[in-house]
Amino acid sequence: MDETNNKDSVTTRRKFIAILVGFMASVNALALGVPFIRTLVSASGGRREEAWTRVGELGSFPAGEPMEARFATLTVEAYQHKSVLNSAWVVKKSDTEVTVFSPICTHLGCHYAWNVETGHFECPCHASVFAPDGSVLSGPAPRPLDTLPVKTENGVLFVRWERFRTGSPNKIIV
Ligand code: FES
Repeated sequence: MDETNNKDSVTTRRKFIAILVGFMASVNALALGVPFIRTLVSASGGRREEAWTRVGELGSFPAGEPMEARFATLTVEAYQHKSVLNSAWVVKKSDTEVTVFSPICTHLGCHYAWNVETGHFECPCHASVFAPDGSVLSGPAPRPLDTLPVKTENGVLFVRWERFRTGSPNKIIV
């Protein structure tokens, strides 16, 4: 009888130790895994642009004529700060009314350009044509040109750089 009790006691102790070891292993896996997964997510989809980028003095853009502006945006990716050269089309109607278009065609992502002769934005890849207000005049582009958020401070134009899904009728940030 004593021997049976002893065996039961040993078995119970072994089970307890096995459960304890399993629990400790799970806690360790969680402690190590969470930062690792966060790094992976940050490295793949965690790209983040710094809020506002200075584009230039509003007075330096001609009224009524689209002008391409180039600027560096700061990007935070996998905990690293990177400076990336970007551009956008600035369409200034007056000193208080300005629209900034992403330079990326809404069809499949080519860079379009302003054609002074025709007075349209034209994409060289599949011949989409856009009016100065960004609306689609012809071609396969599924939506108008994408506007970027803008603000002006003391006569200086700032833009928030964003990327949008191409090939979609809806403007979706990616
Ligand atoms: Fe511009 Fe296709 S990418 S028309």
